Amino acid sequence: MSLLTINKLTSSVGAEVVGVDPQRLVDDDELAAAVLDALEDNGVLVFPDLQLKPRDQVAFCTRLGSVDFSSDGHHEVAGIYPITLNTAKNSAASYLRATFDWHIDGCTPMGDECPQKATVLSAVQVAERGGETEFASSYAAYDVLTDDEKQRFGSLRVVHSLEASQLRVTPDPTPEELARWRARPTHTHPLVWTHRTGRKSLVLGASTDYIVGMDLDEGRALLAELLRRATVPDKVYRHKWSVGDTVIWDNRGVLHRAAPYDPGSPREMLRTTVLGDEPIR
Ligand code: OGA
Ligand code: MN
Repeated sequence: MSLLTINKLTSSVGAEVVGVDPQRLVDDDELAAAVLDALEDNGVLVFPDLQLKPRDQVAFCTRLGSVDFSSDGHHEVAGIYPITLNTAKNSAASYLRATFDWHIDGCTPMGDECPQKATVLSAVQVAERGGETEFASSYAAYDVLTDDEKQRFGSLRVVHSLEASQLRVTPDPTPEELARWRARPTHTHPLVWTHRTGRKSLVLGASTDYIVGMDLDEGRALLAELLRRATVPDKVYRHKWSVGDTVIWDNRGVLHRAAPYDPGSPREMLRTTVLGDEPIR
């Protein structure tokens, strides 16, 4: 019998996991392995009302892989990063407005780090309006292509930049902002990611700037159209948060975004990131 009780939330992405004792996520090796398998199958796992404590969240994540401790100092528990637009709670909050656009985390790292493997968010406070998190499968985005498209897009390479993702939410940056964004190197990734498992996904989202060797506008129009097809409403799972919910997503196989919420809203998510070990290729 499977260790997890799972209910699919849409036909292509997301499943709810019910009846899990949070302590077992911390203590039980087999359960952690079952979570990783379910994540590969479903892209997103929702644990309603799990009430996972911050320290237990980090302990759980260490069972899934290496936890990212590089942005410590924003929360008393190492490995916890608060997601909030409130600059009193997170000095880097202004960057987080870019989460309102569909994206894959970690496509424009400082160095040659791989995109994160998985991300866990737990809701501490929720927005009165908006602030849902939406998910779409980037494997499904590839699977819906025609054979001809799979053939044509297989060799395309796409330049990603922090500037591209920030410009979408801050179209009139100050010279200082622009300089800060440009200090982050651009990265060129294949449009089609062939994973170690053999599965293929599309690497799309806010960080995409242009397609190498294609007319700028034509390439951007193609990227926008592929993103549109990947995120049509019936392919999206939209999580409406309640305090105490925990959600984990496979950052290699899903696109995600936050539905807009008021910057003055108390919404606060505690995030733990599991580092990736698989380059996009
Ligand atoms: C993130 C992110 C979305 C949200 O943490 O990487 O995109 O709903 N969060 O806060
Ligand atoms: Mn994100």
